[in-house]
Amino acid sequence: MVYSVLLLGALVAAPAFGQTFRRTAACPKLGCVFPPDQTDFIAGQTFDLRIEVQAPVNGSEAYNNGQPDNNFSLKIGGQGGNLVDASEFFGLTDPTVEKYNFTYYEDLFAEEAHAPTPVNVLAKSYRNLQLHNPGTYDVVLTYNNGDTTTATWTVAPLAESKKAKNVIFFVGDGMASSMLSAARLLGHKTINGKYQSKLKVDEAPGFGAQMTHSLDSFITDSANSASALFSGKKMTVNGLNAYTDSTGKGVGNAKVETIFEMFRRIEGGQVGVVSKAYIADATPAAVCTHTSQRSQYAAIIDQYLSGIAGNWFPWAGLDLLFGGGAENFLPTSANGNISQFDRWGSEGYQVGYTKTELEAFDNAQRALAIFTQGNISTWLDKNIYPDTLDLAITPQGERGAYDQPGLKDMTLKAIDILHTRAKERNTGFMLMSEAALIDKEMHVLDIDRALGEVLELDDTVRATLEHLEEIGELEDTLVVITADHAHGFDVFGSTDTKFLQEQNSDRAKRGAVGTYLNSGLSAYQVPQDVLANNHTIFPSPQGDGFPVTWDPRYTIAHGWAATPDHREDYAVNKDHERLPAVKNTTGYFFNPEDNNRGFAMTGNLGTGEAQGVHSLVDVPVYAFGPGHELFRGVMNSPDLAFKVALALDLGRSSNVTAGYKK
Ligand SMILES: *[C@@H]1O[C@H](CO)[C@@H](O)[C@H](O)[C@H]1NC(C)=O
Ligand SMILES: *[C@@H]1O[C@H](CO)[C@@H](O)[C@H](O)[C@H]1NC(C)=O
Ligand SMILES: *[C@@H]1O[C@H](CO)[C@@H](O)[C@H](O)[C@H]1NC(C)=O
Ligand SMILES: *[C@@H]1O[C@H](CO)[C@@H](O)[C@H](O)[C@H]1NC(C)=O
Ligand SMILES: *[C@@H]1O[C@H](CO)[C@@H](O)[C@H](O)[C@H]1NC(C)=O
Ligand SMILES: *[C@@H]1O[C@H](CO)[C@@H](O)[C@H](O)[C@H]1NC(C)=O
Ligand SMILES: *[C@@H]1O[C@H](CO)[C@@H](O)[C@H](O)[C@H]1NC(C)=O
Ligand SMILES: *[C@@H]1O[C@H](CO)[C@@H](O)[C@H](O)[C@H]1NC(C)=O
Ligand SMILES: [Zn+2]
Repeated sequence: MVYSVLLLGALVAAPAFGQTFRRTAACPKLGCVFPPDQTDFIAGQTFDLRIEVQAPVNGSEAYNNGQPDNNFSLKIGGQGGNLVDASEFFGLTDPTVEKYNFTYYEDLFAEEAHAPTPVNVLAKSYRNLQLHNPGTYDVVLTYNNGDTTTATWTVAPLAESKKAKNVIFFVGDGMASSMLSAARLLGHKTINGKYQSKLKVDEAPGFGAQMTHSLDSFITDSANSASALFSGKKMTVNGLNAYTDSTGKGVGNAKVETIFEMFRRIEGGQVGVVSKAYIADATPAAVCTHTSQRSQYAAIIDQYLSGIAGNWFPWAGLDLLFGGGAENFLPTSANGNISQFDRWGSEGYQVGYTKTELEAFDNAQRALAIFTQGNISTWLDKNIYPDTLDLAITPQGERGAYDQPGLKDMTLKAIDILHTRAKERNTGFMLMSEAALIDKEMHVLDIDRALGEVLELDDTVRATLEHLEEIGELEDTLVVITADHAHGFDVFGSTDTKFLQEQNSDRAKRGAVGTYLNSGLSAYQVPQDVLANNHTIFPSPQGDGFPVTWDPRYTIAHGWAATPDHREDYAVNKDHERLPAVKNTTGYFFNPEDNNRGFAMTGNLGTGEAQGVHSLVDVPVYAFGPGHELFRGVMNSPDLAFKVALALDLGRSSNVTAGYKK
């Protein structure tokens, strides 16, 4: 989709579309250390250490005719102690040296002149390391005739006590605070300035904000931002719990263990993943998979089940996986012609393809449920405009996927399965549940579908807390809700859609937008409006906190910081989701079929971009339950993994491997 950072320019023969060309991500000098300088670890968190010594043949960093010095060394020392050879420090035999080369472009001029810089590399990877003692460590690579690259790492302090047994981690993909404010406006009613009901997350006793920038780019994608949340390590764009190195390959990169994997390894705990996206997508994948290339869908599905053979802990498979994306489970040459449905079935998973089958699953058995090809349908499509489900594709490839669950259905069933299995094994459970389509709909500027997903997430949080109370797990379960990044979205008034549609010029249409006093109050009806003078809050047919109208005459006037060319009419798209721009020979241009009664807005992104892109603003963090007090103030994205690890006390006994029972 829209993850257009050029890493190794020479590999991509596309027109110029970037400003920053890197020799290697997170490697400022010719000696590279991964994990890089400033990395923090949870005590006992497993990781790989990779070093590279590079020698460019030409360009501004040319070294020794492109010959790296064979005489290089890696030393490590803890807390000011003596530096000792890394192999000795970790008690390993010295890894073999890899030799290879790659090319890159130094800048746009070099790319236009087709003048790549070849670089020769010597590299070593140390696998499956752990640091148990809190404190700082210096890692020093000496190379190329005495130059050094030093990485200072910190192992975080241990928890004083274990606060939580279970963790449910909700991700609203792409969910900025402004979207929650807009969703509150649609789904809840004010009287004389006072909301009569609010979002469930508005009640969270733990509340703060989180910075989402990546390791080497201030705008993140969902792979590296989710890796930061789940492993506590910033990554490069497209990286899933694995550092992008100079090999250009997605396999073999230096990996880091996630909090979900630690929990499974140390406590033998149950782990589940739920998403409304195709399930090989970045956020679900960041729970327990490792590749610098998020597009390796076949490898991701394989790792959900089997982990990484040979050089990682025996993973033994997720307890459950619910989402879309059946296309990645069907036999293809990319996955060796194996049906992953058959394979998971033969590993003892219950396999289902519909909401009806999901609900019939035995709570004591592991489960795989995939409901569509591509993403699951949005809340708005399923609940308000169900005719659009004719367009949704079943796992078997037929048009018309009608028996699909929503986020709440999948999450509550996941809790039942995890809870039942955890109880039988005397463990806790961890669940990652992703409201994935907030992001996908924001990318295509489809505000009503996106806000429907935000309200569905909030309704799911409410139902989750109620359900945890029913099953007696509320006191033991930390519930965290956050986003992986934002989109630059906001609301600035309201629009008279009727007036807009009847004007003949773009300038006249803009007169339909009312600001300040003229924006008035929300015209979306909520259930209380339907029963006049009845201010009791009661569930609407679709759940709590949704408006009952999605096409009022007066809608919210809104916009994005970054868009392709598109038209705005500020009215709901009832027939299908938006496609704002289409491609012709000059790049992406106004889609003549999209919002054609609206006024034109020239895009501000490169003409190669079909959609809006992610933005910089910090995203909100909400927490309920034991340990919620850890989630306050302004945080950096990796801090969330450390806070979950503290609440679960993953650091203390981190050299233990409990053994998970399937
Ligand atoms: C190798 O490099 C080290 C410094 O890292 C230096 O002390 C040593 O003399 C070098 N050995 C050779 C053979 O160049
Ligand atoms: C890169 O490696 C290949 C073989 O792997 C070799 O043929 C080629 O000459 C190398 N390029 C440079 C610039 O050293
Ligand atoms: C570097 O050398 C290669 C040949 O090895 C050449 O093709 C390329 O244009 C040179 N690049 C620069 C930046 O000079
Ligand atoms: C997968 O199937 C295709 C066509 O049926 C065949 O050409 C290919 O060799 C197969 N690949 C593997 C790895 O079996
Ligand atoms: C849903 O997923 C597909 C990939 O399967 C992606 O290309 C598409 O853009 C997504 N849908 C939306 C609405 O963005
Ligand atoms: C308000 O509506 C709810 C739900 O329909 C109903 O149960 C309740 O009796 C109503 N209250 C009043 C005062 O009408
Ligand atoms: C691209 O599409 C737009 C809208 O249809 C049109 O105005 C423009 O002339 C097209 N450009 C080319 C080169 O076809
Ligand atoms: C775990 O580490 C602690 C402290 O370093 C040590 O006392 C203990 O023996 C270790 N246990 C195992 C199973 O390695
Ligand atoms: Zn996104």
